[in-house]
Amino acid sequence: MAVLTLGIESSCDETACAVIEDGRIVRASMIASQADLHSQYGGVVPEIASRMHVEAIVPVISETMKQADVRYEDINAVCVTKGPGLVGALLVGVSAAKALCEVKKIPLVGVNHMAGHIAANYLSDPSWEPPFLCLVVSGGHSEILLVKDYSDMECICSTRDDAAGEAFDKIARVIGLGYPGGPKLDKASKTGDPHAYTFPSPKITDSLDFSFSGIKTAALNMINQVRMSGEDVNINDFAASYQDAVCSILCDRLEKAVKQTGMKKICLAGGVSANSCLRAKVEDLAQRKHCALCLPKMAYCTDNAAMIASEGYYAFISGVRDNLDMNAYPSLELGGVYGN
Ligand code: KG4
Ligand code: ZN
Repeated sequence: MAVLTLGIESSCDETACAVIEDGRIVRASMIASQADLHSQYGGVVPEIASRMHVEAIVPVISETMKQADVRYEDINAVCVTKGPGLVGALLVGVSAAKALCEVKKIPLVGVNHMAGHIAANYLSDPSWEPPFLCLVVSGGHSEILLVKDYSDMECICSTRDDAAGEAFDKIARVIGLGYPGGPKLDKASKTGDPHAYTFPSPKITDSLDFSFSGIKTAALNMINQVRMSGEDVNINDFAASYQDAVCSILCDRLEKAVKQTGMKKICLAGGVSANSCLRAKVEDLAQRKHCALCLPKMAYCTDNAAMIASEGYYAFISGVRDNLDMNAYPSLELGGVYGN
């Protein structure tokens, strides 16, 4: 019989719920985004995010159940993001999940949000299975993981300072593109020249670690210099050049990780995996290095609950259960078994 998992996600500014069959088939997936609300402040305001989750969580869960056309009695596990993320935001999803589990007597599975992003690949390619290398790039994370099994991940490298998403969001804000910066920078780049401006590459040579603070500072200095000389920064050219430079750093490290590990299967995860330049570069890398490739479907790149229900499914069938005293863990790290 099919195993149905209900996923709940509320780690940042999306209230999301999904019902997934056997970890792979999406029966229903809903996202209530707060992005428009936060955009007027230039970024996510944690207290507003928590309050909006409180308003949205019950209607989003009810509507998802309706769309999936299933009863709570049919749900085998409730899988909820337990971290990392904004603590007040996480607590709304965690509390809703616990209430559901208590009332309906359903097992609870806490899911690491970043492991969830990796599971977006299982929803995108039905035959995609570990082992593989995954470049995980989001608003708060940049790392390359060797995913040995659904529950067993080894970190090959991570960032020494900012995440790739942060590096995009910050520069997008400075050049006036607003929030959320990554997608807007991506759009502006479409009509820009990626060779118009040049940026320095990070100088880390003793590991594959990323560093984006240098390129971010170089970009800020460049913008100031151009503006001080009385000229305007060409927004589209600047966006295209900066995006190209950041994506080149990401791909360079992924290529080195392929060489270092000998792993010929690569994929992307996290919000930045929606970036068109990054997707094109990784496709090129896969071709050059004869690697199998999975690019997550656009709908599952940024935060959603389908990926949480998918990751939760693999934890559930391997016996993972959480108690009703489970908390939210804002700094939860990835690694080990299910990020526990
Ligand atoms: O995974 P995600 O939705 O939330 C976190 O877990 O952080 O990632 C959000 C990040 C933001 O920094 C956003 O600007 C970036 O992903 N992002 C993009 C694109 N779409 C989202 N960055 C570059 N290009 C995109 N198309
Ligand atoms: Zn995320």
